Order: sequence, then C-alpha cells, then structure tokens
Amino acid sequence: MKNSMTKGLAGAFLVLGLMAGQAAFAQDKTINDGVFTAMQASAGELVYNNSCKTCHDMRFYRDILKSWNNQPLLWLWETVMGTMPADNPGSLMLSEYTEVIAYILSENGFPAGETSLDPDDGMADIHIVRP
Ligand code: HEC
Repeated sequence: MKNSMTKGLAGAFLVLGLMAGQAAFAQDKTINDGVFTAMQASAGELVYNNSCKTCHDMRFYRDILKSWNNQPLLWLWETVMGTMPADNPGSLMLSEYTEVIAYILSENGFPAGETSLDPDDGMADIHIVRP
C-alpha cells in the first residue's frame, strides 16, 4: 500500500514536470516582452481615437485580451483587420492596425521595447497573456 502510493506520487510529479516544460516551450515570447515600440503606441492612439473609441472603451479590450489568453497576437491582428472598424472593416492601413494593437497593449500595461511590431515578422510567435 505505502509502496504503490509512493509510485503514484512519483508519476504525478513526472507528468507535472512534462506539462511545465511544454508550457514554457509554447510561450517563449509574450506581449510582456516589449514587442512594440513607444512610437507605434503613440501613433496608435490617434488611430484609436478616430476609429475605435466610439464603439468600445479600454475595459472592453482588457476583457478581449483576457479571452485571447495564450493565442498568437497575429490572430488578434488578423481578426481586427478583417472585422474592424465594424462600420467599415479593412478601411485602415495595415500599419495603422498594427499601431492600434500596440496602443491597446500599452494601455493595458504591457511594456514598449526596441523592436517594432510587424505582422510579417514573428507576430505568430508572440502569445497573448492576461493583462
Ligand atoms: C461601429 C462600431 C465599432 C467600431 C468603430 C469598432 N468596433 Fe470593434 N467591435 C464592434 C462590434 C459590434 C464587435 C462585436 C461585438 C462585441 O464583441 O462587442 C466588435 C468586436 C471587436 C473585437 C473583438 C474581436 C473578437 O473576435 O474577439 C476587437 C478586438 C475589436 N472590436 C477591436 C476594434 C478596433 C481595434 C477598432 C478600431 C480600429 C474597432 N474595434 C472599431 C464594433 C465596433
């Protein structure tokens, strides 16, 4: 009895260890790693005020980021580009969509960094985490 319990515990630790390893692998980069520049975020503020503010407040984006937890940032960018602004989808320039994402991240407490956010360069590997 005592013996089989010890074995069970060892097994459980092994499984936990594997899961932790996988999680670290899947999330090697997140929106916490300075994935946009401060310049992009401030450019995004203008876009946001002109094209997004009328229908959503920042609280809405906070909830969106929570519900997109673990998803690639590129998917959010693609969704916004394909469906927003709801009254005229796809009407902004691609760079404006990128800037508005940078602004939303910045307003939700994620740090700016040295590299520009670029949908053609590695954005599928940046994962969203909860604000
Ligand atoms: C005319 C109103 C309107 C404007 C302007 C607008 N949206 Fe939306 N947006 C909506 C509606 C309606 C939905 C879907 C219903 C909901 O979730 O509230 C939505 C949903 C979203 C979602 C959630 C998508 C998802 O599937 O999780 C995001 C992100 C978003 N909008 C971002 C933006 C951004 C960024 C802008 C500015 C470029 C913008 N919206 C402008 C009305 C608008």
